Amino acid sequence: MKAIQTVHPTGLDTLRYADIADAKAPGPGEISVRLRASSLNYHDYMVVLGAIPTPEGRIPMSDGAGEVTAVGEGVREFAVGDLVVSTFFPAWLDGVDAPDGGFSGVPGDGADGYAREQVTAPATSFTHAPKGWSAAEAATITCAGVTAWRGLVADGALKGGETVLVQGTGGVSIYGLQIAKAFGCTVIATSSSDEKLERLKALGADHLINYKSEPAWGAAAAKLTGGRGVDHILEIGGSGTLPESINATRNGGHIALIGVLAGYAGPVPTVAIMGKQLKVQGLTVGSRRHQLDMIRAIDVAGYRPVLDKHFPLENLADAFRHQASNTHFGKIVVDI
Ligand SMILES: NC(=O)c1ccc[n+]([C@@H]2O[C@H](COP(=O)([O-])OP(=O)(O)OC[C@H]3O[C@@H](n4cnc5c(N)ncnc54)[C@H](OP(=O)(O)O)[C@@H]3O)[C@@H](O)[C@H]2O)c1
Repeated sequence: MKAIQTVHPTGLDTLRYADIADAKAPGPGEISVRLRASSLNYHDYMVVLGAIPTPEGRIPMSDGAGEVTAVGEGVREFAVGDLVVSTFFPAWLDGVDAPDGGFSGVPGDGADGYAREQVTAPATSFTHAPKGWSAAEAATITCAGVTAWRGLVADGALKGGETVLVQGTGGVSIYGLQIAKAFGCTVIATSSSDEKLERLKALGADHLINYKSEPAWGAAAAKLTGGRGVDHILEIGGSGTLPESINATRNGGHIALIGVLAGYAGPVPTVAIMGKQLKVQGLTVGSRRHQLDMIRAIDVAGYRPVLDKHFPLENLADAFRHQASNTHFGKIVVDI
């Protein structure tokens, strides 16, 4: 089969489009999947740049979707032909944390990922895709979708009528917007681009703020709530955006600490967090249970993910260059 592998020194220019051995037949409890799509995440970008060190020959990409081609003994959940989507932590089925506590089993990081045509894996490494979705659509759930779901619903206990702020127009934030609207929430959306803000409006965002032309966007967001502050923020910037997020949030509100796009470390206004009695919750994606819950809700709500450009597997490096340009809106997809 065809696959993309890293070659040391790891970087976009050294990625190898290789012929590797076909996936084995499934053993008890396993399924074989003909992968059809993957989608790009910042975490995958760090792997292919070598910023997250991996052994030479690592197959990148945490997200994978495709159809089941064979099922092993004892597998009841899936049948040949089912469209399935991978989970981010294959060993984390339920409960509060991944059993190994880290990334050792994460596809495309501690283990081989889904930039390949076939895989045979434990059936629990996959879930059914949402009903009616394409493989490309389903391949956006594993990392971005589940992260937004966990931040708002599992950790945030989102309720209809609340106000949610999403930052920028990447995969996590657009999923956050869609989840919040499906729950009957008000959404304040930010972007560096007025054109992208208009697209967010078309997706249902109630209030728009350009965070470049309005650097004090936290106070502006609070003003939009009549001064009370927003209930939840998906914080994808990290240290560079956290102070404004704190300004935006209501007393007792919730900040889901997700991303690092505006910095890895920096001064934290701890007094403001304490004074406003905020809940600041760090999270890394989620469990198979979170993914199952999210997909059950999608099957009822009926929204579809926002796909940006598609790239063929052999052009994975170009897909990452496109991601680095920050011109995308939603999820960049790889067709396999
Ligand atoms: N903790 C986890 O489990 C987890 C899971 C998934 C992702 N993440 C992290 O979350 C972040 C976002 O991931 P993603 O996949 O959604 O990324 P993405 O799709 O690449 O999002 C990029 C977009 O983020 C927006 N952005 C960049 N800097 C910003 C800033 N300072 N303020 C507001 N928006 C900003 C920009 O939107 P505009 O162009 O509209 O300005 C940009 O286009 C990354 O740091 C990623 O590592 C963490």
